[in-house]
Formats: sequence, C-alpha cells, structure tokens
Amino acid sequence: RAATTVTRLREMKSRGEKIVSVTAYDAGFGAQADAAGIDMVLVGDSLGMVVQGHPSTLPVTVDQIVYHSACVARGVRQALLVTDLPFMSYRDVPTALASSARVIAEGGAAVVKLEGAGWALEVIRALSERDVAVCAHLGLTPQSVHKLGGYRVQGREAAAAEQLKADALAVEQAGADLLVLECVPSALAAEITGSLRIPTIGIGAGPDCDGQVLVLHDLLGITPGRPPRFAKNFLAGCDSVAAALTAYADAVRSGAFPGPEHGF
Ligand code: KIV
Ligand code: NA
Repeated sequence: RAATTVTRLREMKSRGEKIVSVTAYDAGFGAQADAAGIDMVLVGDSLGMVVQGHPSTLPVTVDQIVYHSACVARGVRQALLVTDLPFMSYRDVPTALASSARVIAEGGAAVVKLEGAGWALEVIRALSERDVAVCAHLGLTPQSVHKLGGYRVQGREAAAAEQLKADALAVEQAGADLLVLECVPSALAAEITGSLRIPTIGIGAGPDCDGQVLVLHDLLGITPGRPPRFAKNFLAGCDSVAAALTAYADAVRSGAFPGPEHGF
C-alpha cells in the first residue's frame, strides 16, 4: 500500500469510497490508527482540549503542534498526515507561510489545516501557490468560539447556509485540497459535498460527506463530561484500541456511522 496523498483522497471521492480520519497526538496512537487502515490522521488543535485540558483550542502554540505532529509522524507510515495551524498562526500571509514551513519541515505534515474563508482565502491562495497542500475547515470553527458564542451547529438559517455554500466554493477556488465540515446540518453538508470537486470530511455533518473524522478521545470514550452529539464510543464493545479504530473505520466505510442520531 502506497502512502496516502491528497490525489488518492480525490480519487476516493470520485469512486464514492468513504475517507476515514481520526485525530492523534502521539506516535503510539498514530501507529494504531495507521495499522487500522485509517486514511488520514489529523494532528488537531483539539490537542488544547483533550490533551492539555483547556476549555478551548485557543492556547495551542505552533511549538506545541509541531512537537505533537513530529511525534505522530514517527508512528504513521501510510496515512496522510494533516496538522492544524493554531489560532493566530496564519493571521496574515507571511505568518502563515512561516508556521506552515515549521509544521511541514519539523512536524512532518503533508497537509496544513486552517479555519475559515473570507480573510483566510488570501492565505489559502498563498499556500496553494507555493504548492502547500491545504485542508480548509468551515461550519463550527472552534478557533472562533468567542465570536460564535459557544460550540453549536452552524448554517441553520437560510442566510448562514448560503454563506457556508459560498465559502465552500471559495476555499476550493482558492486552492484548498480538502474541506472539513464541522457541525452543519446533514442536508447542507450533502449539498456542499455534491457541489465541490475536493473531498469533504465531516464531523457532525451527516452521512453524505466524502469522509468522516472523529477526535480520538471521543472515539475511545475518554473525553470528560457529556460526549458531543456527533461522537460515538467505539471502544465500548471492543477489547482493544486497535479493535475500536477498526470498528470505526468499518462503520464509516459501510455507512453505518454516522447515523441520523449523530447529525443535525
Ligand atoms: O482539532 C481537531 O481535532 C479538528 C477536528 C475536529 C476536525 O479540527
Ligand atoms: Na482543529
């Protein structure tokens, strides 16, 4: 099996093969995800919440994400490694180029991920022009939590849905290779997925995205407090982390996950 590329994920979209993704923060879990045949491993800035214990992703620094990305990279062989650019680390083009250089060169990432459209389109364009593979992220963008007023579903009202559709087309046009859709109504995510050439990876975005991503701690049922609606504990009923990751991958590929109860 050859190492996974954004080209391969695009082929999977055109064939209707589901893309399976999970987050990881260290080499051990990166290796487990890789061995389970996960297509894409994301070093998410959810790091700040599930590993560091902060109430948001905002405190994560470039140094920290680079350290965790490099750890994960040592565990991953086949999966595509995508690493988040932290809050304010892509606020303008020069800063984004410098942050991406570190995440790729020191962190071993193949793809950098960033949140938003609007002002971020210029950043996506600058990275894409320099042949940096980019994953965009729309819908609930956790780095905007204080503007959004909490972690809640996005794109419910007609105007917001239209804006989200326009933003999705715009990030593709700007050169994004992948798009994460977080906490958006299933029907809207399906419509966006159908309108784009690039693959969409959903989390709380219904069954019709080209792929699915879950935060590792949600998948293993070890996130403190009430689990988010879109999460499912795949370790329940399994006797190992490896079995839980395989059960998750199988459920995404068969269409069993996410079910209607996981969507909006
Ligand atoms: O940081 C993260 O884990 C993410 C995923 C939820 C998509 O961005
Ligand atoms: Na993130």
